[in-house]
Amino acid sequence: MTQARPQIRAVKGMNDVLADEVGRWQRIEAAFARTMGLQGFREVRTPYVEPTGLFVRAIGEVTDIVEKEMYSFAHHGDELTLRPEGTAGAARAYIEHAVHAREPVTRWWYTGPMFRAERPQRGRYRQFSQLGVEIFGDEGPGCDAEMIDMLVGFLAELRVPGVEVLVNSLGGPETRVRYRDALVAHFTPQAASLSATSQRRLETNPLRILDSKDERDQQAVANAPSIREFLDPTDEAHFSALLAHLDALGTPYRVEPRLVRGLDYYTRTLFEIKGAPEKLGAGSTLVGGGRYDGMIADLGGPNVAAFGFGAGVDRLLIASEFEVSASIVDAVVAPLGTAAVPRALVLGRDLRRAGVRCEVGTRDASLKSQLRRANALGARFVFILGDSELAQGTVQFKDLEQRTQDLLPLDRAAAAVAARLAPQVRP
Ligand code: HAM
Repeated sequence: MTQARPQIRAVKGMNDVLADEVGRWQRIEAAFARTMGLQGFREVRTPYVEPTGLFVRAIGEVTDIVEKEMYSFAHHGDELTLRPEGTAGAARAYIEHAVHAREPVTRWWYTGPMFRAERPQRGRYRQFSQLGVEIFGDEGPGCDAEMIDMLVGFLAELRVPGVEVLVNSLGGPETRVRYRDALVAHFTPQAASLSATSQRRLETNPLRILDSKDERDQQAVANAPSIREFLDPTDEAHFSALLAHLDALGTPYRVEPRLVRGLDYYTRTLFEIKGAPEKLGAGSTLVGGGRYDGMIADLGGPNVAAFGFGAGVDRLLIASEFEVSASIVDAVVAPLGTAAVPRALVLGRDLRRAGVRCEVGTRDASLKSQLRRANALGARFVFILGDSELAQGTVQFKDLEQRTQDLLPLDRAAAAVAARLAPQVRP
């Protein structure tokens, strides 16, 4: 007896999306593409692999992503990384192609896989997909408010319950330095009682202590000074204008002065959108984004302001409650016996040319099995081609919804379906 050969399984944290789920993925991606088209944004596609140095420089050396989550490898002397996010690549492409010289403002959207070696759990994977936007050349705050409002509408379209928008401002680089000093002064006297991670961050990136979920840090975080007190007048004016725009749009939000994010590039506006807490857990963020006005210059480009966000598609799938139609085809063509197959193939092609989604039963199966298949595919119509239909140039036309059966001339088949489908609007 031959021994069963060992199976090869997918990489941990990297998931297959089987055909049953693809419809919901496509619906989310199509809704986003449509939304962005309405906003006048254009799609950009950048490589999945970039030089490692790009992410180190753009995202920041002392971040979880760069310190421990990147899939990096050497290849023929180049240090490369599977992109952990989309902003750095978009910024690189913007600079490399001197897009700023062609247009004063650039509005891009993108979608695709990102890679982070995180500990996998529900809604957190090692290969995951993002929908994102990057805007270059608009200092806002109008564009910041417009994007947040657009996202609230998009999440409503996807029927995500419990949506909550959190906003904050990190100010400009000088504000950050002053706030950092204030945090160091606040945390240092109580350093011994902080978690080990926060003690380390006190040296490297004190703002990230505010992000800590560790119980030992909660008390010190709750009493920490608020960044709002450190904003300079231009930062404060930007933030107040953002809130005023959101009010004018009627977009609900909550100012969260302790909101910081895991990426170092943010300046001024920072926001997160959470949703469906009972499905994803309270801490799980659907969308994260903000301003990163310094990145383009830091990467060697011109001094151009930037704003963007990333939304996790895997999480949107869990959070959203829209239904997709279970119908895979409108019609099944069922030949009875192999002699009828050629005629069935022609009929199938004619139906598709008329816009009717159909499957032809090419497996030489019984009528009963083909009717079962029609049911499983959610087909409303079945065309049956037996010997007598072949001889007469006709076809049996079954409407499973109206429970009718008619004998039709073959050349009237497509028109018969079209007449019955016409009143429905198909996606
Ligand atoms: P981020 O907050 O790291 O931001 O990711 C944005 C979203 O991607 C998260 O809110 C989450 O929905 C999803 N996400 C992140 N990591 C995972 C994971 N391991 N598994 C599943 N989903 C995940 C960025 O990536 C920035 N590039 C956003 C941005 C664009 N800021 C400015 N422009």
